[in-house]
Amino acid sequence: MKIIGTGSAVPRRKVTNEMLTEFLDTNDEWISTRTGIKSRRVLSTDEDVTQLAIKASEEALKDAHLDATDLDYIICHNVDNDYKTPALACVIQGAIKAKCPSVDMNGACAGFIFSLDCANGLMKAGRAKKILLVCAEHMTKLTDWTRRESCVLFGDGAGAVILTDEGPDCEISLSTVYSDALYCNASTKETPFSHQEKKYDKLSMKGKEVFKFAVQSSAHDIQQVMDQAKVTADDVKYFVLHQANLRIVDAIKTHMNQTEEKFPHNIERRGNTSSASVPLLLDEMNKNGMLKEGDIVIFSAFGAGFSSGACLMRW
Ligand code: UT7
Repeated sequence: MKIIGTGSAVPRRKVTNEMLTEFLDTNDEWISTRTGIKSRRVLSTDEDVTQLAIKASEEALKDAHLDATDLDYIICHNVDNDYKTPALACVIQGAIKAKCPSVDMNGACAGFIFSLDCANGLMKAGRAKKILLVCAEHMTKLTDWTRRESCVLFGDGAGAVILTDEGPDCEISLSTVYSDALYCNASTKETPFSHQEKKYDKLSMKGKEVFKFAVQSSAHDIQQVMDQAKVTADDVKYFVLHQANLRIVDAIKTHMNQTEEKFPHNIERRGNTSSASVPLLLDEMNKNGMLKEGDIVIFSAFGAGFSSGACLMRW
């Protein structure tokens, strides 16, 4: 499996740390030093995550020089979106005028890797040759804007890739260990048979626990895919990590004993966009001409579940 096109889209509104201090007991110094974030993009009244998903998908198709009708499958990954049903992937399919099966997945922040695994499976089973995988996230509607320990972290955005089966084998490692350290309940309505109306909770996070899991799981998953591919860290051109906290990226860099340039980041401008963060960053790298044919790239992502995963691919 190989990536032959990338695309991304972010909301127009940029929210700086300074702007958050207008309604939150926080400051730029705390947010910058603890997370690396300086600003994030946030969806406001006149935009929605569906538009971002469609724009990122169209860009990726253009970059791959493909028509939407060339697609054999669309996977849209998201934690939440504008619809309960149909899947956002179906809405994207209609908008871009594709004619293939389309489905949503939810693997939280590690979702890009879980979706890559499913795409790889579809290709290996001979079910699809060209797949659009788009991760589109509206995290700022799930966050509790009174909880300063979590709301400062998140941003919105979408990142898309076009995958083809005409490529070398990739290596994937996944894990899930249930934990309540990061969750967000869904709402339920009263029915004639159930009188338990539940308003949906906003995101709740035990930051330190998640941080520890993130560093341990990412280090483990990366080692696993390198072992599977029989390569060492020195052979890898880039480690593209989930943009959750710059201190997590730094911890992995130190653990791997590799140089700064191998760990690209955009968290300072994008915040944590959940599953969209890796494909968003990848699209920036692609547009900046950082990727050359044959480069070994490792993606690693982690989050609620706890779920985590890494994927080693050749560009
Ligand atoms: O994508 C999903 C994965 N999510 C993550 O990977 C998040 C992982 N966790 C983290 O990134 C970090 O744990 C945080 C950035 C969330 C928090 O950093 P921390 O170094 O673990 O800080 P802390 O929770 O221990 O808080 C330290 C202090 C506390 O004050 P006291 O108790 O020491 O007086 C907090 O109340 O910082 C305070 N604090 C803040 N101060 C100013 C917490 N949030 C803020 C804030 N502004 N926004």
